[in-house]
Amino acid sequence: MRPGKDGGKDIDRLTENLQKMVDLEEESYYSKQVIAEYRDPVHFGKMEDPDATAEKTGPCGDTMRMDLKVEDGMVTDARFTTDGCGASMACGNMTAKMAIGTSLRDAARLTPESLLERLGGLPDEHRHCAVLAMDTLHAALKGKAGKNDASAPSKKEQRA
Ligand code: FES
Repeated sequence: MRPGKDGGKDIDRLTENLQKMVDLEEESYYSKQVIAEYRDPVHFGKMEDPDATAEKTGPCGDTMRMDLKVEDGMVTDARFTTDGCGASMACGNMTAKMAIGTSLRDAARLTPESLLERLGGLPDEHRHCAVLAMDTLHAALKGKAGKNDASAPSKKEQRA
């Protein structure tokens, strides 16, 4: 069935109203920062020829991959992919942002709590998404440390 004379406008209004409802539901569930990160995940994607990489699976069964570029003991670029939820997209993107420009030692000291703080929190049922993102970053850093990078943090420093 084809829409009548004003059918197109009705569909536009309906679409607009549905979008507003979706936006309101998202805003009542996620912080503004989480929504901004998953709507525009500028660090999403795989890196060609990364210096360090890791992939982890969370307790929910979703996976995250983190690729890093490292120069002179500093993380100069980070990219991630995930097949997980919107919160995991926000967590991966913010983790990449937090890692870029930090030393390997400081990147190893980032925690899920610091990520949650930067994101303005997450609902309890999505806190594990932050843990997955940080676990993946730390696994990539450990891989880099395994390549005998003298500036990489020791296991003791990573636990500190
Ligand atoms: Fe699986 Fe968020 S990463 S629910």
